[in-house]
Amino acid sequence: MTPEGSLLAAEALCKAYGPTPALDGADFSIHPGEVVAVLGPSGSGKSTLLHCLAGIVRPDSGTVRYGPHALTDLSDAQRSALRRTDFGFVFQFGQLVPELTCLENVALPLRLNGTKRKEAERRAHDWLAQLEVEGVGKQRPGEISGGQGQRVAVARALATTPRVIFADEPTGALDSLNGERVLTLLTNAARDTNAAVVLVTHEARVAAYSDREIVVRDGRVKDMAGRI
Ligand SMILES: Nc1ncnc2c1ncn2[C@@H]1O[C@H](COP(=O)(O)OP(=O)(O)OP(=O)(O)O)[C@@H](O)[C@H]1O
Ligand SMILES: [Mg+2]
Repeated sequence: MTPEGSLLAAEALCKAYGPTPALDGADFSIHPGEVVAVLGPSGSGKSTLLHCLAGIVRPDSGTVRYGPHALTDLSDAQRSALRRTDFGFVFQFGQLVPELTCLENVALPLRLNGTKRKEAERRAHDWLAQLEVEGVGKQRPGEISGGQGQRVAVARALATTPRVIFADEPTGALDSLNGERVLTLLTNAARDTNAAVVLVTHEARVAAYSDREIVVRDGRVKDMAGRI
């Protein structure tokens, strides 16, 4: 079980790529509905931490707990199943399937979870509207702007109403106005659905959208004062 009250918790995570440790005893925990900003210099281990928390990368040692599950003890198939049902992902770029329309991209995780096409597309349309990009449903990712693409990616991450959204530099490729808009929409939608958000970023201003900030340095996590 996770420590009392927390949804996702990691303890003493270590992960090395060759001789260099990417994570070196990292601890982390997040509560349901909490938005945590993960700051830190380039190469400090932010993405590696996020990938371990999401069960994408298996740490060399340490544990990741999600509710009653020890993610680190599950098989690859069990972790993928959990990722599909309980987690949502937004990355910096390139995560939309170029051959599918934007509507089909948002409907895809619902279809993978067994939702019928009509219902999946209806819900996908509602999410596109909530992210204020209902007009791009029929277009493909190559035919829309970067800011619109990130909104579609956020809609897709939220479509399955995940318990945790992992966002790695979701606004890194956007200008500041579009970036702020995407962050507002992402954090508002997460708060509406009580989803927790792990938000990795280089930019200090992004932290203004969070309940709490942590800093990763040399593969270890330092907690900053909460600002709730
Ligand atoms: N797949 C990989 N293979 C080899 N080394 C890796 C791999 N992923 C990360 N690393 C190394 O691990 C360290 C931490 O990388 P990580 O990507 O977690 O940093 P980061 O904080 O996300 O950086 P950035 O802000 O630039 O995205 C770096 O030294 C990086 O070179
Ligand atoms: Mg990174």
